[in-house]
Amino acid sequence: MKIENGAEEGILDSTLRPRQVEEFIGQKRKLANLITYIRGASERDEPLDHVLLYGPPGLGKTTLAHIIAREMGVELRKTSGPVLERKGDLTAILTDLEPHGVLFIDEIHRLRTAMEEILYRAMEDFQVDVIIGQGVGARNVALDLNPFTLVGATTRAGLLSSPLRDRFGILMHLDFYSSADMMRVIRRSAKILGVEITEAAVIGIAGRSRGTPRVANKLLRRVRDFAQADARGCIDDQVTEKAFIALGVDEEGFDEIDRRIIHVVIDKFSGGPVGLSTLATAVMEEKDTIEDVYEPFLIRQGFLKITPRGRVATEKAYSYFKRKKKQSPGPLFRETE
Ligand SMILES: Nc1ncnc2c1ncn2[C@@H]1O[C@H](COP(=O)(O)OP(=O)(O)OP(=O)(O)O)[C@@H](O)[C@H]1O
Ligand SMILES: [Mg+2]
Repeated sequence: MKIENGAEEGILDSTLRPRQVEEFIGQKRKLANLITYIRGASERDEPLDHVLLYGPPGLGKTTLAHIIAREMGVELRKTSGPVLERKGDLTAILTDLEPHGVLFIDEIHRLRTAMEEILYRAMEDFQVDVIIGQGVGARNVALDLNPFTLVGATTRAGLLSSPLRDRFGILMHLDFYSSADMMRVIRRSAKILGVEITEAAVIGIAGRSRGTPRVANKLLRRVRDFAQADARGCIDDQVTEKAFIALGVDEEGFDEIDRRIIHVVIDKFSGGPVGLSTLATAVMEEKDTIEDVYEPFLIRQGFLKITPRGRVATEKAYSYFKRKKKQSPGPLFRETE
């Protein structure tokens, strides 16, 4: 099962996306801080400081960007790093922002250098340079912008150039959700979708959702299909078990690709260390997908470690996947008993 956002998830995401801060589950302390900053800025009649949201996919970065704009009582303009190709496009967006407006740039680590340079000035001085006139008469004019807030989102803050990262006053790292929070997410989504679900099924789905609300919503939706196919009025643990087997999702929430990653590290590379590129080729997945989507969860669950020499499978991975560690060649001479 893929975790990236496809067309179907796009619709699902927007139906189930919390719109207001009260609906946002988990990340309590960080969220409370963010709200304090928003209220403070509003009271001072200033724009909120620029915010960088980072963390693995599906944890609520886009959701939070919407909530920030809503709390500030302003509109949200949305774009993304790969989409912004021409200086003129970014300049047009910036000059069009309302006072204290929020500009959301998703995948901000994929911005081109020329765009970054425009942003530096815009973020710091609320100005952009535009060229007026043509040929020899052309000149650079600094244009004042309405003070605004840039909200950037990225799966890994380390991918941002440091001058860009340094210009964000508020850094917010989104972490995987606890199982109690995941259960809340599932109950809330089931309610919105109008499906009945037993507590056992909530626990079952929460345990397999990789601490990721988007994965929970996706599993819930699939499980609902199985419940419908079985003409069951309610999602119970029997349906969920059946669905998990059919989807190939195990008790840890691992799917086929997680298993392939661990199997490759253990079976092909004797447990590692193995470099990311080699691993990606062997697993037949994109390097970025492995790094952004799979590794953070495998590492958090204690199945994989990153060492300076590469990825290493842990003892836990050996025992969970029922593999025996190859013994290193023993000492040449055995001590006599
Ligand atoms: N805190 C939360 N409470 C309830 N639901 C949530 C929460 N965070 C995320 N979700 C659900 O998960 C879905 C995915 O969240 P979102 O799109 O904000 O993730 P993202 O971090 O932007 O992911 P990506 O990196 O792929 O862009 C949302 O549509 C929403 O339904
Ligand atoms: Mg997003």
